Amino acid sequence: MRVLVTGASRGLGLEWVRQLAARGDVVFATCRRPQEADALNALAAQHPNNVKVLAMDVANDDSIAAALQAVAAQTDALDVLINNAGILHEGERITNLHSEGLMQAFRVNAVGPMMVAQRALPLLRRGERPVIFNTSTMLASLTLKSGSGYCSYSASKAALNMFTRTLAAGLRGEGIIVVAVHPGWVRTDMGGPGAPLTPPQSVRGMMAFLDKLTMSHSGRFWTWEGKEHPW
Ligand SMILES: NC(=O)c1ccc[n+]([C@@H]2O[C@H](COP(=O)([O-])OP(=O)(O)OC[C@H]3O[C@@H](n4cnc5c(N)ncnc54)[C@H](OP(=O)(O)O)[C@@H]3O)[C@@H](O)[C@H]2O)c1
Repeated sequence: MRVLVTGASRGLGLEWVRQLAARGDVVFATCRRPQEADALNALAAQHPNNVKVLAMDVANDDSIAAALQAVAAQTDALDVLINNAGILHEGERITNLHSEGLMQAFRVNAVGPMMVAQRALPLLRRGERPVIFNTSTMLASLTLKSGSGYCSYSASKAALNMFTRTLAAGLRGEGIIVVAVHPGWVRTDMGGPGAPLTPPQSVRGMMAFLDKLTMSHSGRFWTWEGKEHPW
């Protein structure tokens, strides 16, 4: 498969690149600052034929356009877009919310993935069983949400879920599958040391699910183990 991953410098994005590369997939691994992405660069050095590191800040339209142009110069099709990059503002309370923080969360977690999908569409249209795999979270679930924390994170990922539904409906006729997936609570910089899952476990589960996706899964919300998640 030919796969584009966003936010590949660390955490789940880096693990996606590791597992995809290990099985021989071609990976366009994008991150904000490739010159500082030591772990990713080391991985690319181990897989010089199938891991390409490219700069992409998902909060910047020009950066997205430049990255997709660079990808298009190296392949005529993409089979999978993993929209993985995300941010979570720790310690948010209703009393300390500020509009810049809220806007930044929406920019990175919702608008960015949508704009990357739009720019990747010409390549995805030429892919085999093309998939847009949006990394959501259980904290975006309107059904399950009970606490008052993670305000910008939950709301922006809920917007990503709606973008997922919208894109799925719009692209169904072209055979492009679009899903929202909760990766589990995972031990990364974002998930913290108390999380029960390791990145390899989460990505192994998500990759097995990715491999079996069909149009019947499109426009729906799933867990990393391929179980339906309540919206
Ligand atoms: N870990 C969990 O328990 C958990 C649970 C549910 C959902 N998720 C979701 O899973 C995804 C990956 O999370 P993670 O746990 O791996 O988080 P992480 O360890 O904090 O890594 C986040 C990644 O996103 C990148 N990123 C942030 N802003 C970006 C931007 N503007 N442009 C491009 N890349 C950007 C970071 O790059 P830099 O290195 O440049 O900062 C980093 O590579 C996120 O979408 C997150 O919301 C995680």
